Amino acid sequence: MAKALSLPPLTEDLAQVLIDAATIDRRVTEIANQINKDYKDITEPLILVGVLKGSFIFLSDLCRKLTVPHIVDFIAISSYGKGGEVQGNVRLLMDVREDISGKDVLIVEDILDSGNTLAYLQRNFSTRAAKSVKIASFLDKPDRHKVDLKLDYMGFTIPDVWVVGYGLDYKEKYRTLPYIAEMYPVH
Ligand code: IMP
Ligand code: MG
Repeated sequence: MAKALSLPPLTEDLAQVLIDAATIDRRVTEIANQINKDYKDITEPLILVGVLKGSFIFLSDLCRKLTVPHIVDFIAISSYGKGGEVQGNVRLLMDVREDISGKDVLIVEDILDSGNTLAYLQRNFSTRAAKSVKIASFLDKPDRHKVDLKLDYMGFTIPDVWVVGYGLDYKEKYRTLPYIAEMYPVH
């Protein structure tokens, strides 16, 4: 049995650990169990669409806890904005490879902030005649919502602070921390 690794230390940018790795793991297991129940009768594999880059760690943990048949695919989106700030203008950078018409799709996202990204993706997939489109977001920042959007699966609700780790970054930093940390307000 491998010894538990000690946590990477907080740097001067990071104010506190908001969600530790063990808590994340428990919650991801709960979400996977729910997905396994909800899709237990599917006849064709569920298509998991990870939104790059932020969702890649959540997606990889989640998919390894799924017992329902599934396929992993990715999409890349860009939202114009300065620094870490995200704005309303959403653009498709890389499309999925799977043909999703007639398929059950589960969009896997790191965080619901303004909601612009997920609203765009939901519209985009619905126009391609997917059989169903649901959304799993690891985090939700309700204070920041600008569009009305329903999450089907959600990990944790957080306050309006910039968070990093578990796939989320600040200018590409801190993405691979095993926990969610709150940054000091620099953005
Ligand atoms: P939206 O505003 O809901 O479209 O959020 C778009 C994207 O902003 C998310 O997918 C994240 O990549 C990024 N984002 C929003 N809030 C945070 C945060 O606190 N930390 C890191 N990335 C964030
Ligand atoms: Mg993202």
